Parts: sequence; C-alpha cells; structure tokens
Amino acid sequence: MAGARGGGHGFVIMMQYWALGFVIAQLLQMAESQGGLQVGFYDQSCPLAEQIVRTVVERGVLQDHGNAPGLIRLHFHDCFVQGCDGSVLLDGAKSEKTASPNFSLRGFEVVDSAKAELEKQCPGVVSCADLLAFAARDSIELTGGKRWEVPAGRRDGNVSDNAEAEAMLPSPSLDVHQLTDSFTRKGLSQNDMITLSGAHTIGRIHCSTVVARLYPTTDPNLDADLAVQLKTLCPEVGGNSSSTFNLDPTTPELFDNMYYSNLFGGKGVLQSDQILFESWSTKLPTMFNVLSTTSFTSSFADSMLTMSQIEVKTGADGEIRRHCRVVNPVIAASSPASPPV
Ligand code: HEM
Repeated sequence: MAGARGGGHGFVIMMQYWALGFVIAQLLQMAESQGGLQVGFYDQSCPLAEQIVRTVVERGVLQDHGNAPGLIRLHFHDCFVQGCDGSVLLDGAKSEKTASPNFSLRGFEVVDSAKAELEKQCPGVVSCADLLAFAARDSIELTGGKRWEVPAGRRDGNVSDNAEAEAMLPSPSLDVHQLTDSFTRKGLSQNDMITLSGAHTIGRIHCSTVVARLYPTTDPNLDADLAVQLKTLCPEVGGNSSSTFNLDPTTPELFDNMYYSNLFGGKGVLQSDQILFESWSTKLPTMFNVLSTTSFTSSFADSMLTMSQIEVKTGADGEIRRHCRVVNPVIAASSPASPPV
C-alpha cells in the first residue's frame, strides 16, 4: 500500500516536472517566435532550406557582386508593398516590377535558382518571401555585415500592383518629413530609416536617377568634386541614362559605415541620403552611426529584423508559391465520377 502511495507520489512529481518542462519549452518558443514568425521554422520540414539559399547566393555574388545589393534592395521593396510576401517577384504587365522605383531591381535570377533548388529538395514548403529574407541577410553577411537569425514562416501573396508600389516606395526627391512618414506608416522609426539607408554603402545608382541633382542647376549640397565626376558620367545632353555610379564611391563593395562618412563630406550620391545629414532631426543619429562599423552593422541587423516582419502573411493566409514569378495555378475541383452505364 505504502509502496503504491509512494509510486503515485513519484508519478505526480514526474508530471509536475513534465508540466514545468512543457511551460519552459513554450516560453522559449514564444521568445523565439516574433510576429507569428519563428527562427528555425523549417527545421523539421526542410532542414537544409537556409543552407541551400546561402549556397546559391554565394554562387550568385561570386558571379556578379551586384547581386548582393540587388537582393538587399529586393527585400526592402518587397516589404514596403503588400508586406514581405514575395509580391515584388511576380511577373505581369501591371505587377510591382513595372513601377518606376523598381526599374533597376536585380537579383531575380538568383532567387529563381534558389527556389528551383528548394523545390527539388522540399517541394511546396519554403515560401519565396522567406527565401528573399534569407537571401538579403546572406548578402549583407557576404559583403562584411553582421549575421542575424531570420525568423521565418512568411507566406506568399498573390497581389502585385504597380500603382501600389509607386505610392509606397520612397522617392529620392522626398524631404526628410516625407521620408520619415514613408517609414513610420510601415511601422519603422526614423532611426530605422537612418540605419537602413546605410544599405547604400554598397550598390549602384543610374544616371537617370542622379541627373535631377545636376541639371539645370547643381544641388548645392553636393560635393564639388563629386559633382564633376557625376557630370562627366551623366552629361546633360547625349549621355547614357543607364550608366551607373557607385553609391559609396569610397568602399563600394564593403558593407561598412563609409556611407555615413561620405555624407559628412557632401558625398552622398543620393539626394535623400544627403538630406539625412542636412536636416537637424536626423543629423545626430546619422553622426552616431559613423562612429564604428561594428555598432552600425549591429543596429542595421536589428532594423532589418523589424523591416522583414512588415505585414507578413502567416498561417492560412497566402500560399507557398512553386515558382516565385507566378502565383500557383488554381486546381479545378475534380468533376463528379460519371454514373455507371
Ligand atoms: C530612405 C529611402 C530610400 C530611398 C529614397 C532609396 C532610393 C534608392 C535609389 C534611387 C537607388 C538607386 C536606383 C538606381 O538608380 O538604380 C537605391 C539603391 C539601393 N538601395 Fe535604396 N533607397 C532607400 C532606402 C533603402 C533601404 C531601406 C534599403 C535596404 C534596407 C535600400 C537598399 C538599396 C540598395 C542595396 C541599393 C543598390 C541596389 C543595386 O545596386 O542594385 N535602400 N535606393
């Protein structure tokens, strides 16, 4: 009898330990899960997902270094329109791709290759939206920035509208209030905006974007030497609007804080960037980011984490696209079996 009672007591203690373990596991999971997304989301369903993306991105960046800035910008433009749902990747006569701020997006082929590889390994499991979030993170790390864990579980949207992209993506001619508004309406702070603009430490700008600062009069905030270089590359008459210039003329391929140093000397190629340094409300935090590459890349990772969770679709919302350029075909309900004759 006593033995039986002791056994029962032992069982109760065991259950208490089990319950405690369960609660701790839940709490840990909640800590890891952010905005419905979760770090290690594909651990069971496609354990090699992040490795596959990483390998393809590495190959893509090795072939063409421009794929790194291309993929980072793709993720930003994806998240600002319809949330981070892969909508920027969809083809179509009126899709986001056709909007003017998206004319120079690049990196689509890397996304296609990574998706093809993922579909071979785990068909219909990894969303294009997650793929893009992983690829942007990897691009930053591959060019010298800090790595962070990307919470996943985004699902793909099937709406991609160029008018919405025109309205949501900030233009380089906006003033500091308009720029800040375009970020705050997406749940990002002015500090996030200042930090994320640091992505312009790599990548390129086209003459067609820069000419507004050069002609008919030269923007007084532009460094005189830089203005001469830009005018040589992008003459007022007879120039090639598709010629490009490095956004960070100093260390164009490194994800460092030189972008902010450039702003000090009026060497911000993009008008909106230089505005961050000219305006009192944004000058100080901009100066803070210049202090060290380590503190910049660390804040950058934090702000990317916030940006990559904008209006995400999870659960039963959206779909897992089989090909990132097209929504999945609708499978027609099977017709009722014909009656026996
Ligand atoms: C603050 C508002 C922003 C404006 C107005 C802006 C505008 C632009 C423009 C006009 C270009 C050059 C396009 C061209 O001529 O080809 C560019 C390039 C780029 N932007 Fe931004 N941007 C902003 C914020 C961001 C953010 C938040 C990110 C990423 C987190 C980002 C990442 C990039 C990258 C990496 C490039 C280079 C792309 C390449 O080389 O293919 N930008 N941006």
